[in-house]
Amino acid sequence: MIPLARPWMTAAEESAAAEVLRSGWLASGPKTQALEAVFAELTQADHAVAVSSGTAALELALRALGVGPGDEVLCPALTWPSPAHAVVRLGARAVLVDVDAEEWNTTAEAFAAARTERTKAAIVIDQFGNPARGPAIAAALEGVAIIEDAACALGSRFADGSPCGSLGAIGCFSLHPRKIVTCGEGGVCVTDDPALAEAMRIARNHGQRAVGVFDAPDANLRMSDLSAAVALAQVERLEEILSTRRAHAVAMRERLAERYQLQRTPEGAETNHQTFGALLPEGRDREAFIADAAARGVQVGRLSYSVDRLGQVGEQGPLPMAHALDDRGVAFPLFPTMTLEERATVIDALEAIA
Ligand SMILES: Cc1ncc(COP(=O)(O)O)c(C=O)c1O
Repeated sequence: MIPLARPWMTAAEESAAAEVLRSGWLASGPKTQALEAVFAELTQADHAVAVSSGTAALELALRALGVGPGDEVLCPALTWPSPAHAVVRLGARAVLVDVDAEEWNTTAEAFAAARTERTKAAIVIDQFGNPARGPAIAAALEGVAIIEDAACALGSRFADGSPCGSLGAIGCFSLHPRKIVTCGEGGVCVTDDPALAEAMRIARNHGQRAVGVFDAPDANLRMSDLSAAVALAQVERLEEILSTRRAHAVAMRERLAERYQLQRTPEGAETNHQTFGALLPEGRDREAFIADAAARGVQVGRLSYSVDRLGQVGEQGPLPMAHALDDRGVAFPLFPTMTLEERATVIDALEAIA
């Protein structure tokens, strides 16, 4: 079976991990600091804070911005539940906003319409690596703190050329194996604001401001140097990872765009093709489609969720597009180590069952 994703690990990752194992320093340390410097550079940010997951990154970002009970936080409805659930865990209300029919990201207009005087922050997602219409959204949300959930969007660029992750007060990345670079589990927050960076550094480290001085009863959300070393080796190949993904995506789109409704990227923006998604036509049985693909040796998965249906975020307004993608969205295999033969098998199978 050709899987949806396969992490690309090489001798460089193995020797990076071995070097840390031999060094005697496994916890957060010099490798974590080096990874932070690389993420800051990649996103043109002044500060980066590495943490244990993309979810931890979102939670620290929300906390640094002071989100708590009584606040509303706008969040795209179509997503892995992390961002909305992080809002709820902090006692705030997640106000879900529907996504655009073609780009599958929330728009400036939808964010503006959902904004109230209780809106403390907005989470902007670059869903499946596809850049949101960042500058327009920032203009519509003036006065509201933006957290960019760029979990999937390392290496993607907005139409003005700026890197995804750099839109708002804080950008959050995930290093989960389905993402662009991975170390198993991990996340990174980036920001230009030194006070936010310091708040996140303290909160990831038991709330410890200085040795023995604790501001709050916080958890340990640090990244280990073992993880950071692997992530550093991955980031060294970022350009190669991105160009290989793009080459596969271009070839797949060439043959599949006529048969499937695919995600559209805003003019001038650049996606990293983190997930190659499609929206099946109404009435098409997704489970039968997935079984047909599997019979041809190709793994197809469900695309994502409309978070209002998962039971944790309370009553929400109508979310027709997120529901359509929740019901009929599918993900196709795309990963840098996919061989040309595997790619041909994927395309042939998907053409045959379209
Ligand atoms: C949009 C989005 N945000 C956040 C996350 C959470 O990242 P992690 O799995 O590293 O906690 C994910 C992971 O799938 C995601 O897709």
